[in-house]
Amino acid sequence: MKQLLKTLTETSAPSGYEDAVRKVILKEVKPLADEVKVDALGNLIVRKKPAAGAKNPKRIMLAAHMDEIGVIASHIDRKGFVRFTNIGGTFGRYTLGARIRFMNGVTGVVGYDRLEQVDQAPAMNKMYIDVGATRKENCPVRVGDVGAFERSYIEMGDRIVAKSLDDRVGVLVLIETLRAMKSAPNDLYFVFTTQEEVGVRGAGTAAYGIDPEIGIAVDVTGTGDTPASLKMTMELGKGPCIKVRDPGMLSDPRVVEWMVNAAEKAKLPYQREVLLVGSTDARAIQISRAGVLAGALSIPCRYIHSASEMVDYGDLKNSVKLLTAMLSKPVSF
Ligand code: CO
Ligand code: ZN
Repeated sequence: MKQLLKTLTETSAPSGYEDAVRKVILKEVKPLADEVKVDALGNLIVRKKPAAGAKNPKRIMLAAHMDEIGVIASHIDRKGFVRFTNIGGTFGRYTLGARIRFMNGVTGVVGYDRLEQVDQAPAMNKMYIDVGATRKENCPVRVGDVGAFERSYIEMGDRIVAKSLDDRVGVLVLIETLRAMKSAPNDLYFVFTTQEEVGVRGAGTAAYGIDPEIGIAVDVTGTGDTPASLKMTMELGKGPCIKVRDPGMLSDPRVVEWMVNAAEKAKLPYQREVLLVGSTDARAIQISRAGVLAGALSIPCRYIHSASEMVDYGDLKNSVKLLTAMLSKPVSF
């Protein structure tokens, strides 16, 4: 599981440019699936059909986004310095000092214009990427080229640190759940979505196509366990989080209850999640077509949208166990 997570996080796939990571996922899921397809927006849709004779199978959509935050070149100056803007929630404070790898393989470092006050955090339009060019003419990056953080995966005991754990941990949990499913009483669609970071775009079209009765997103959630953090109860290492609310959605109480019951029956640790900032694919699923019962299983994560996000390995294992427990039984609502 850790080797696969290393491969997933070290693959570069900013929103709209998910090809490389989709290839990695496809290789894992193909032997486990009954049907595989890629839709127009690039969502990878993997179906596991209900076992023969299953009574009233529910159509359940599970979503984890493949894309990651990134940058896009907006202007190249005379000396070959690249100005850029964000793709998704790339924050200035996390971008300073980062290395960026463009899709064409070019690497650059982020620098910034002289500051009036040395302890200021510069705005993104005061930053640039230095790709080693000396003139506009020899700059290997063009306007419109897209890049993402470059950073290697490391383990610190049970803690894992990497870029794009948002949401490659969700991708990993879906793959491992599919692997763990023996036979399913439900009609399951494991969807690896695109363009979540720019506003849950892929999940919306995928949900329209699948028309599920129940939707669950698997994504990261912020924690309240670091110095002077927001007052939230989620902590690393205390188990998967069952989303009750984030600013983009209120989980359906029946879905919350289903998840809580499954966790308690399987004697798995879990946390109740009320997230104060951010949202997930579950929002797009919930309000697609005539509406879908939706919820989310979240993995606690520190330093979200930095190049060094952090999760706990035990939370990943327990997330796979919880999702497998939920999906292995008929759903009664
Ligand atoms: Co994100
Ligand atoms: Zn995410």
